[in-house]
Amino acid sequence: MKGTVTIITGAAQGIGRAIAELVADKGGDVAIFDVIDGSGVCDTIRSKGRRCELYTVDVSDSQTVQAAVDQVVKDLGKIDNLVNNAGITADKLLLRMKDEDWDRVMAVNLRSVFNCTKAVVRHMLRSGGSIVNISSIAGVMGNAGQANYAASKAGIIGFTKSVAREYAERSIRVNAVAPGFIRTKMTDALDEKAKESMHAAIPLKRLGEPEDVANVVYFLLSKYGSYVTGEVINVNGGLYM
Ligand SMILES: NC(=O)c1ccc[n+]([C@@H]2O[C@H](COP(=O)([O-])OP(=O)(O)OC[C@H]3O[C@@H](n4cnc5c(N)ncnc54)[C@H](O)[C@@H]3O)[C@@H](O)[C@H]2O)c1
Repeated sequence: MKGTVTIITGAAQGIGRAIAELVADKGGDVAIFDVIDGSGVCDTIRSKGRRCELYTVDVSDSQTVQAAVDQVVKDLGKIDNLVNNAGITADKLLLRMKDEDWDRVMAVNLRSVFNCTKAVVRHMLRSGGSIVNISSIAGVMGNAGQANYAASKAGIIGFTKSVAREYAERSIRVNAVAPGFIRTKMTDALDEKAKESMHAAIPLKRLGEPEDVANVVYFLLSKYGSYVTGEVINVNGGLYM
């Protein structure tokens, strides 16, 4: 990753943070788009001798995203990779789900992927690039109580395959990663009973760590994934095969 610039959304914590730190460990520079403070991540990355810039960006807003992407090019010189990782949940059974629950989840999880991808692709047309979109096991197999979230994550998969086909001839690879149950603040919010039953159902008999996802994202960003595009890789301990 030496000499590369990677934008990672939602990298102030959780899976995004693990991806940012691994990219930096492998020699890459990082730009973080988040709505919360990510200065701790950037301090860690700079201590590894790599460049890191923070941008306060609500990824659901196309104009803010466009301005931030242009600023990354000014600050760090170019964009080689994008990881669309920012995401939220607003879980409810369908009959209790409000219009706002649907709209906000679709905007932050799916529209954001359109916004960020469209803004960076312009900068990748000449030299190519790699884009990784973080989907979810819920988008592949569905999940009761997550109709909005699962729809947004399934939408990411259709988007990934379409853009992969559209820009393959420009050497822009586009892939998705579908994590299972990963230990982060997002899953901390689940009640103990749900966590226990999830744990029992995972063939590898452990919850995933953010680093388990980061390793696969790194594979797709790096030269090791150079002949992979339009793919969805499950990282779920065997929970869905
Ligand atoms: N944790 C899991 O088990 C799991 C499983 C499957 C998929 N995922 C997906 O992985 C991604 C990361 O999840 P996580 O578990 O690290 O969650 P997290 O809540 O720990 O981190 C999400 C990050 O996204 C940021 N964010 C939220 N809304 C934003 C917005 N509008 N603009 C910019 N940034 C925003 C948050 O501030 C936070 O830093 C998400 O897309 C999530 O859906 C997580």
